[in-house]
Amino acid sequence: MALDRPAAPNDLNAFWMPFTANRQFKKAPRMIVAAEGMHYTTSDGRQILDGTAGLWCCNAGHKRPRIVEAIQTQAAELDYAPAFQMGHPRAFELANRLVDLAPDTMAHAFFVNSGSEAVETALKIAIAYHRARGDGARTRLIGRERGYHGVNFGGISVGGIVNNRKMFGTLLAGVDHLPHTHIPENRWTRGQPEHGAHLADELERIVALHGPETIAACIVEPLAGSTGVLIPPKGYLQRLREICTKHGILLIFDEVITGFGRLGSPFAAQHFDVTPDMITCAKGLTNGVIPMGAVLTSAAIHDAFMTGPEHLIELFHGYTYSANPIACATAIASLDTYREEGLFERCAELAPYWEEGLHSLRDCPHVIDIRNMGLIGAIELEPIPGEPTKRAFAAFLEAYDKGLLIRTTGDIIALSPPLIIEKAQIDELFGTLRGVLHAIA
Ligand SMILES: Cc1ncc(COP(=O)(O)O)c(C=O)c1O
Repeated sequence: MALDRPAAPNDLNAFWMPFTANRQFKKAPRMIVAAEGMHYTTSDGRQILDGTAGLWCCNAGHKRPRIVEAIQTQAAELDYAPAFQMGHPRAFELANRLVDLAPDTMAHAFFVNSGSEAVETALKIAIAYHRARGDGARTRLIGRERGYHGVNFGGISVGGIVNNRKMFGTLLAGVDHLPHTHIPENRWTRGQPEHGAHLADELERIVALHGPETIAACIVEPLAGSTGVLIPPKGYLQRLREICTKHGILLIFDEVITGFGRLGSPFAAQHFDVTPDMITCAKGLTNGVIPMGAVLTSAAIHDAFMTGPEHLIELFHGYTYSANPIACATAIASLDTYREEGLFERCAELAPYWEEGLHSLRDCPHVIDIRNMGLIGAIELEPIPGEPTKRAFAAFLEAYDKGLLIRTTGDIIALSPPLIIEKAQIDELFGTLRGVLHAIA
């Protein structure tokens, strides 16, 4: 660390922290000053095992040499170039790399700067696509209860998390929601649950209510992460695909968490063998290091816009930082790291060991459900009566004290370590968590 930089700032007031209990944090700050491999270093010099890959994004762990070098080199060569009516080679290289990695039908990549922007972009493309084909009445969007699609207006409209919606007015009109798939019969399931494929049929009910000719797209996370790790029941995604195809509705998979190896395949679409019409991604795209997201689309969607006079812009959408050269270089270096180290395959190999370790916590106090897939796990705790979220937050603080970073949502502990985790670190993680669950009230 540079000597002229303090290990901790002396005034915490100015920074309004995102998704944070600001007043509580500023009374007892948890300050991270460095990271390498599987660990964070705190301002008081402690090593913290990263049980969450940052925010589900550092799939190759921290301070990876290829990525650090790519950023340095790119910054020295081409720091910024406009992406409107101009191009630079890295953007095209990255688009090709992504299309190669994605399911076969994905043929194009549109670059954005976050998962939230990827979602907004996909929803706009869906509506504009139908209009471009002369099907302009298709404007409705279908999301799902307990879905998380970022925090912009489109995303919270199709999303299904009450606290993310209720403060922000009426949101987008013409949105409907499928029921979530988290049903009690599926408690303690390892991998995909048996029950709940029929919940996809609710889409038929919504279609019948509004008329298929009014619906543009249905967006779901193939595996819902931020809302507490809700694994799709067997057959559910296949059924959604069938219904969307039958009614001409575009299916969008929000793979901001599941993209880039989290389930052991490049994308969840491949893992579940269900192909959507668009994929949104971010996070692991750049190993979380530089903000970047993308929307992957089929050729049919892209080609519907490629009509009319060639000198005219086909899609009036884009961001100043779309395909930022440093972001592109970071993404390419991340994909190189994933490939060279075989991290997606490694995830698939480690998944059974991870599952065993996770489910060994079943006998711990407060635990009412455990679920897992790939290198994702959730431990659901019995809420303290009248004080939802308090118990899980206590677990978060206790884990941090014990040298482990976990994430909590509601009363659910969500885990998603970097894919470089070693078996001994998996043991350490669950050993620490066992201590945490015994320590909290
Ligand atoms: C499925 C999903 N979509 C969208 C987002 C939003 O991404 P960002 O925070 O980069 O805007 C997230 C973030 O966790 C996510 O999990």
